Amino acid sequence: MKHLIAPSILAADFANLAKDVQMLEESQADWVHIDVMDGRFVPNISFGFPVIKAIKPYSKKVFDVHLMIAEPEKYIEQFRDAGADIITVHYEACDHLHRTLQQIKATGAQAGVALNPHTPVSLLSDVLEDVDLVCLMSVNPGFGGQKFIYRTLQKVRDLKEEIITRNLKTKIEIDGGVGLQNAEVLLQAGADVLVAGSAVFKAPNPMDMIVQLKSVGKEKMV
Ligand code: DX5
Ligand code: ZN
Repeated sequence: MKHLIAPSILAADFANLAKDVQMLEESQADWVHIDVMDGRFVPNISFGFPVIKAIKPYSKKVFDVHLMIAEPEKYIEQFRDAGADIITVHYEACDHLHRTLQQIKATGAQAGVALNPHTPVSLLSDVLEDVDLVCLMSVNPGFGGQKFIYRTLQKVRDLKEEIITRNLKTKIEIDGGVGLQNAEVLLQAGADVLVAGSAVFKAPNPMDMIVQLKSVGKEKMV
């Protein structure tokens, strides 16, 4: 399967967000990754519903909303109304994950679960059928521009094996410290979606960087 690229607007220019979202719209990006942080689940605050609502008209791409918030079940419908197509909650933030996944699906959005670097993929075993997307955090959530944790590769392999064995359609997304330096090995391990914040927005030419990330693993045409 062709891999997907999901640039994270956490690394975009917040004073010119519409411009950056428009750039993504014209680029080869597949999804727009949107990092919501509450200052409780993670030690940082980013943005919430009004910002997602404001940028929605500038893009037809899939809005992949990553909720790094405590008690996400309180806000699922509001994120859907704001324009989320995929809603990802953290395993570590949900006491009743199965219920929260059904709640997300009931809104019509796709349901994702994110795992912190210390959380084993085996803990998802009993809900995997209900999960459209597993987001494996390859940094501790809260900030962009951190160093990729290489142990993630083994988690990708283990999860991929389980997904294939059980004949599921669940996608694996990798989030944190992803760029040209590790994209290929991640795709070989079984990743389907690569999130890239700094790698895209700090590049001299973000659109070209997306093209490059998109072509990783493709045979070169002569
Ligand atoms: C981290 C966020 C990531 C972040 C990735 O808490 O979930 O999506 O924006 O940023 P980079 O690609 O710079 O590591
Ligand atoms: Zn994220």
